[in-house]
Amino acid sequence: MAKPERFVFVCINERPPGHPRGSCTLRGSQEVVAKFDELLESKDLYDRVSLVRTRCLGPCLEGPIVAVFPDNVWYKEVTPGDVEEIVEEHLINNRPVERIRLKDEEWD
Ligand code: FES
Repeated sequence: MAKPERFVFVCINERPPGHPRGSCTLRGSQEVVAKFDELLESKDLYDRVSLVRTRCLGPCLEGPIVAVFPDNVWYKEVTPGDVEEIVEEHLINNRPVERIRLKDEEWD
């Protein structure tokens, strides 16, 4: 296995229903990580990109949260429909997807 160039962290943290911060899993992150897995496999990117299922990354209220490192680019409210654009534009063409980017001032 080659050394990854990038890590894609997808929060799959789950909290009980009714928790004030909710969780990325309750907002659909399992479907998001499944779509990343499908596309990284089909586009043969797993030798360059590592997909990491992770616990809470912090900005729960903006979830599902995806973070791409070492770029330090964070995405908010990611849906399965956004994943192909992240893969094509960011991971392949090195252009982060601005329309769903989590800005520093949006951390809560
Ligand atoms: S639960 Fe996903 S960022 Fe906190």
